[in-house]
Amino acid sequence: MFINFVVLFLLLGLRSEASQQDDIDFTYNGFQGVDMSLDGVAQITNDGLLMVVNTSMQQKGHAFYPHPIHFMNSSSGSVFSFSTTFVFAMFSEFAVSDPGMAFIIAHSRDFSSAWPSIYLGVFNKTNNGNSSNHVIAIEMDSIQNLEFDDIDSNHVGIDINDLKSVDSAPASYFSDQENRYVNLTLSSGRTLQLWVEYCGVQKQLNVTLAPFEVPKPKTPLLSFNIDLSPTIVDPMFVGFSSSTAVSKAPHYVLGWSFKMNGKAKDLTLSQLPKLPRMGPKTEPRIFTIGFPVIGASFMLMSIFIIQIIVARRKKFAEVYEDWELEYGPQRFKYKDLYIATKGFDDKELLGSGGFGKVYKGILPTSKVEVAVKRVSHDSRQGVKEFIAEIVSIGKLQHRNIVTLLGYCRRQGELLLVYDFMPNGSLDKFLFNQSTTTLSWNQRFQIIKSVASALLYLHEEWEQVVIHRDVKSSNVMLDKELNGRLGDFGLARLYDHGCDPKSTHVVGTFGYIAPELCKTGKASPSVDVFAFGIFLLEVACGRRPIQFHESEERLVLLEWVISSFNMGVILETADPKLEMNYEVEEMELVLKLGLLCSHSIPTARPSMRQVMYFLEGEASLPELRSLNGSLFFTAEGTGDDVSIWFPYHMSAVTPQSSIADSLLSGGR
Ligand SMILES: *[C@@H]1O[C@H](CO)[C@@H](O)[C@H](O)[C@H]1NC(C)=O
Ligand SMILES: *[C@@H]1O[C@H](CO)[C@@H](O)[C@H](O)[C@H]1NC(C)=O
Ligand SMILES: *[C@@H]1O[C@H](CO)[C@@H](O)[C@H](O)[C@H]1NC(C)=O
Ligand SMILES: *[C@@H]1O[C@H](CO)[C@@H](O)[C@H](O)[C@H]1NC(C)=O
Repeated sequence: MFINFVVLFLLLGLRSEASQQDDIDFTYNGFQGVDMSLDGVAQITNDGLLMVVNTSMQQKGHAFYPHPIHFMNSSSGSVFSFSTTFVFAMFSEFAVSDPGMAFIIAHSRDFSSAWPSIYLGVFNKTNNGNSSNHVIAIEMDSIQNLEFDDIDSNHVGIDINDLKSVDSAPASYFSDQENRYVNLTLSSGRTLQLWVEYCGVQKQLNVTLAPFEVPKPKTPLLSFNIDLSPTIVDPMFVGFSSSTAVSKAPHYVLGWSFKMNGKAKDLTLSQLPKLPRMGPKTEPRIFTIGFPVIGASFMLMSIFIIQIIVARRKKFAEVYEDWELEYGPQRFKYKDLYIATKGFDDKELLGSGGFGKVYKGILPTSKVEVAVKRVSHDSRQGVKEFIAEIVSIGKLQHRNIVTLLGYCRRQGELLLVYDFMPNGSLDKFLFNQSTTTLSWNQRFQIIKSVASALLYLHEEWEQVVIHRDVKSSNVMLDKELNGRLGDFGLARLYDHGCDPKSTHVVGTFGYIAPELCKTGKASPSVDVFAFGIFLLEVACGRRPIQFHESEERLVLLEWVISSFNMGVILETADPKLEMNYEVEEMELVLKLGLLCSHSIPTARPSMRQVMYFLEGEASLPELRSLNGSLFFTAEGTGDDVSIWFPYHMSAVTPQSSIADSLLSGGR
């Protein structure tokens, strides 16, 4: 009797579930009047576009189908087959790319504690990688974040509870016509279509990308065998997540269809809403219009010529204001920089960081090799002060500082022209397996040159200059592999202080002194902190924070401290050196690294003291381990009493505004 009841119950349950499943099949050719559950900056525009993020920086937005969906076949315990497709367009502003967008299937619609920027509005630092997230995301990512092992800065990936994708590929599609893969740029504003299909029987997830005008390619971009059942906890929600960093460019979904247990309906191109026009695209469409009258053609010709002139003007347009007159010599012509970098050709790209991309160029008249950095900035606020500062920095002359030759301003964009450094940045030598390892002697010289550059900035120049972004990727190597500190003051352009209204700490995560998050005030000791982390990087050949396959992360500073506590500090030395180093120097650098990155600002030495320690003109304060804590005994105060500075491990990682600080990406 009882068993019968259970069977009946199960049957009823199945039936109601099956009929419920039949219902989930929707097609939105545009979102006009569509009921979506929106949060963050997401909105449906008057034109019926789903704008997942708008043009505000550091924002996130989510848009979900409002009703929960059952994905599990409760009788077999497996996940139903489903299929979805959507048409989207991601714009980006100037050279700074934005993180991107993701299609998500999630148990909860509450992403209020997820972070923007590289976390795509889906996860945050603590929950990323946790299997209790119950999130499946297909990311369209235009930032390469090495912490998440991103393959490049333009890829599609499958994320299971973790931004570290289980599978990913550079954005492209297989052209059946041309029989080859054709590359696509995600954040080009081009209208693209993505298909996500899961086969519950074969347990295979296929992701296919194509330009919207191209029919669905037969070969998917990603085809990954995975059983989604551990990740699904019924019911789930489906929708989109997107986030912005520093670029002010919106991300749109134009249409979306979804079907459970079947193929999602095709979207109709003609019914999709139109994208707003972005940027100065002045392609004349005149040629396509046939005019019988010759006179009219003449008129058109002249309009065409005027358009070309206007487009050319616009192309090379600059922003020039009266106050800049005095900076004449430091001002470059945009046209010259454009020619120098072959139109900012990707082939000339030297690298890209949080603030923008850097191109190699040869100045047209002087044939001087330069590096041109394109920085996008959001407003005129602070630009005047910034220009004044960089121009004055341009007057800094020090052999361990990358010379800033000048700048150029455009609408919403700043171009900085530096000396070209043929050997690139130090981080490549430290962390890339392929490049040659620097010897200890070379490293020690680089450390000393960076220290002397910082000392010059802090104490020896006419005004105190705080670098704010000391890290190995900002140390450039010249022809003779001398270290030269670059990228001054850029952080300042984005720094609006740390007042409660705008908590905005700029620097690079892993190098930010803990007090900076609390006070927001940059002082020379903030540079000393970052310099300490830099010392550890150079000595240990490791990044300040490393993520491993298992959810663990290795905080370099904590690791060196605990090795010191165990009396094995030398075991942290870079294995690539194969023990070829001066033990005393290595110990000095490691301990000095700990002293400089002390959590208490006043316990850190000044750069002048650092120079003394490095040159052997003063000896380091004694470092002791007591009950598992680390202490430095500073100089006696006249009597016998020493001041003890305990290390606060918890203060090592800044707790607030980390998302903001991630902006400048630790590369
Ligand atoms: C973006 O959307 C938010 C919320 O709707 C709004 O407050 C903000 O002003 C918008 N930003 C821009 C630049 O339109
Ligand atoms: C991360 O998100 C989880 C919820 O998913 C939340 O409990 C946690 O507080 C968040 N952590 C941070 C550091 O924001
Ligand atoms: C994963 O998240 C759950 C719930 O938020 C939490 O209890 C658990 O400790 C987290 N696991 C890890 C490894 O962080
Ligand atoms: C397409 O992109 C990949 C990865 O970014 C690159 O290796 C390849 O050379 C590109 N192919 C073409 C034809 O540009």
